[in-house]
Amino acid sequence: MKKLTALLLGTAMVLGLAACGGSASTASSEAASSEAASSEETSEAASSEAASESANAAELTTVTAGKLTMSTNAAFPPYEMTADDGSFEGIDIEVAAAIADKLGLELQVDDMDFDAALLAAQNGKSDMVMAGVTVTDERQKVMDFSDTYAEGIQSVIVPEDSDIASVDDLAGKTIGTQRGTTGYIYCTDDFGEDSVVAYDNGLTAVQALNNGQVDAVVIDNAPAKEFVAANTGLKILDTAYAQEDYAIGVAKGNTALLDAINGALEELQADGTLQSIVDKYIKAE
Ligand code: ARG
Repeated sequence: MKKLTALLLGTAMVLGLAACGGSASTASSEAASSEAASSEETSEAASSEAASESANAAELTTVTAGKLTMSTNAAFPPYEMTADDGSFEGIDIEVAAAIADKLGLELQVDDMDFDAALLAAQNGKSDMVMAGVTVTDERQKVMDFSDTYAEGIQSVIVPEDSDIASVDDLAGKTIGTQRGTTGYIYCTDDFGEDSVVAYDNGLTAVQALNNGQVDAVVIDNAPAKEFVAANTGLKILDTAYAQEDYAIGVAKGNTALLDAINGALEELQADGTLQSIVDKYIKAE
């Protein structure tokens, strides 16, 4: 794992679209999505074209026909959270809705624990997992990832009066994390399983910190900022634990869906939609 002790904190939306091969060109995915919009009347024409259009929604088989089912853990602001009325909101939710729209599908959000959300996509119970998911070598063995759509940072939250001033000071302390996350994986690798407590979600980990049950919480920087803002007496260390890339995960080998997602992401980046969604949820400092 990468320990970046002098990293500047902050969250930026960074697209690595050019870095990943195999995605449809902008021209062909535009053609595909305009076709998808009129696929009802011209389904014959569309399906004969489908053979040559990898990003065509007409040839996508999804878990539920007509829907793009996204598994997530909606307790991770500002990427995904549950509003008071029970609806889902956040960067991932809006980007996913925009992708679904491009593919002529309706977004279906399935909220569950984070580790279950990863498994759902791996096992084809959902079409994709979008949950601020960090791309790791281990995960790449069991699922395929889209192009990167955001950058994440693992941060350390401590009480304001804590003697923990750097990542190294976590040695010998009790660390709270969310189960199944990279924060959990890094901390158990670096400090041993006995030093790390896994909670159902980031908020419960932060509540445990507030109650003195753990000495620190390691979690992604954007939710860390939200949790610290909502709880007095906590602060985020200036130095970060690790830097990461977020991407959308799909079942291994689901190339048709992956190409369609990457084509849509590319268009959403090019027309500024992606940035405007981020700006809505993450205010410039
Ligand atoms: N980026 C971290 C990971 O992939 C944490 C993601 C947690 N996401 C969530 N929606 N709870 O492990």
